[in-house]
Amino acid sequence: MKLQVYPWTLSLLLALLTAVDAAPARRSSNPSLRGSETLVGYSSTEKVASGTQPDIKYSLLPGQTVSPDIGAYLDFEKVENPQPIRGSTGSDDPGPRNYAYDRINSDKLAPPGTDNGQTINAQWPMGLSHNRLGIDNAGWARQENTVVMPAATEMAGVDMRLEPGGYRELHWHVAAEWSLVLNGSCRIQAVNTDGQTFVDDLSAGDVWFFPPGIPHSIQALDDGVEFLLVFDQGDFDEDNTFLATEVFLHTPKSVLAKNLGVSISAFDDIPDDELYIFEGTPAPADIEKQNVTTQSGVVPRTESYSYHFSEQAAHEVAGGSVKIVDPLTFPIASNFSAAIVTVHPGGMREIHWHPTSDEWTFFIQGQGRATLFLHLMLPQRLTTALSNSHYIENTGDEDLMFLEVLQATQFTDMALGQWIASTPKQIVKDTLNLSNSTLSKLKTEKQYVVAGSTTS
Ligand SMILES: *[C@@H]1O[C@H](CO)[C@@H](O)[C@H](O)[C@H]1NC(C)=O
Ligand SMILES: *[C@@H]1O[C@H](CO)[C@@H](O)[C@H](O)[C@H]1NC(C)=O
Ligand SMILES: *[C@@H]1O[C@H](CO)[C@@H](O)[C@H](O)[C@H]1NC(C)=O
Ligand SMILES: *[C@@H]1O[C@H](CO)[C@@H](O)[C@H](O)[C@H]1NC(C)=O
Ligand SMILES: *[C@@H]1O[C@H](CO)[C@@H](O)[C@H](O)[C@H]1NC(C)=O
Repeated sequence: MKLQVYPWTLSLLLALLTAVDAAPARRSSNPSLRGSETLVGYSSTEKVASGTQPDIKYSLLPGQTVSPDIGAYLDFEKVENPQPIRGSTGSDDPGPRNYAYDRINSDKLAPPGTDNGQTINAQWPMGLSHNRLGIDNAGWARQENTVVMPAATEMAGVDMRLEPGGYRELHWHVAAEWSLVLNGSCRIQAVNTDGQTFVDDLSAGDVWFFPPGIPHSIQALDDGVEFLLVFDQGDFDEDNTFLATEVFLHTPKSVLAKNLGVSISAFDDIPDDELYIFEGTPAPADIEKQNVTTQSGVVPRTESYSYHFSEQAAHEVAGGSVKIVDPLTFPIASNFSAAIVTVHPGGMREIHWHPTSDEWTFFIQGQGRATLFLHLMLPQRLTTALSNSHYIENTGDEDLMFLEVLQATQFTDMALGQWIASTPKQIVKDTLNLSNSTLSKLKTEKQYVVAGSTTS
């Protein structure tokens, strides 16, 4: 029998030999950390390895083959090899690349042709924030502030979880705190400068507000709680608040004793570190047991720190619904105006801007896209700076729900549609060259959320 040696047999043999020999061989031939100095500059002997163009296999979505100015939403989530191409603009991407980010940020990878120039970063996923884990598995907290979004100078946000019985320690801070309960329920309490007391139980969808400097605590009830905190200072840092434990730890015991009229030994057993988020004794089911009533009385109803927003029905509009809580109904939160907007699939929060305030937006559910229109003079989880127009389109197949927060004494916006529909037709025609038939279709009522179908 004739022995046939196939090239692959040889290479397999060599590979096996190398493998057997691998450890000592690698040690002796391990390249040094730096290459040769002869690699610098042009060399007549070293040729660039230029072969044929890589065969990048991809297919385009219908929205990628039409005019870029149509700016159809591109759903790249199930696209195997999404490409930065719109019409005759852009080209393929051989990599290296991060497919996960490219798939969920299609308008960044392949922006609409109507985009122009660089904008501020207006988006921050809480999933990229550092999470601070509480002790005893009692919860966690992660934040968004100017460290991660430098342009969001007016507001900052914290997403916090407390397990049943878990506390956010007694504390206060310089910023005003507005909060929306996202899940579960909690008991909040505070004492104001007149010594008046406050305690209330809140559940998902309810709102609270604590003015600057008012000391308060939050404890999760039996179902645990997750909430969103919004502060009126973009550089707010959740790790930098005044904690009860720290006040006691860092004040001389003799001073504490004198101040509170007790003995120095009264402080023998105080915690030797801050608690921040920790497990406590479950709150008594009967809130009356924690209703401290003193000669100062309770915080008057008109100055209450809570608003049972979950019990407010949403105002229905064509493409979804809107509900507003602002100082007109929740006066203590004197500069916080907020709306929860629900947009049905394909619908869109209409193009609008807020004349006097930045907007801080938190996406609660669903997926959507937004574009900011910035004046060129301006260098924005989504923050839209003062008077930049914007919209939010539901690009998914479930309801999109988000929270808009303004620093304003009333929730107001200017809607693009209402504006041009309420302007003399001749002026609009002279400016935008719209047809008479288009002008006759414009609606003078504010729409808030328009209905529509998903474009792709
Ligand atoms: C709270 O979270 C639980 C577990 O994820 C979920 O089943 C429930 O629907 C959430 N409640 C609300 C109001 O979102
Ligand atoms: C606490 O007590 C005051 C005075 O009796 C009462 O007006 C208030 O409703 C009570 N609050 C709660 C949360 O029970
Ligand atoms: C509300 O916030 C805005 C923006 O930060 C600020 O300019 C304004 O002075 C504030 N108004 C009140 C009444 O605090
Ligand atoms: C306005 O639109 C018409 C077509 O409807 C076009 O003929 C005309 O050139 C346009 N005018 C300007 C100033 O662009
Ligand atoms: C549009 O409307 C204006 C004002 O009513 C009228 O003068 C003009 O002829 C109309 N243009 C067309 C193309 O019908």
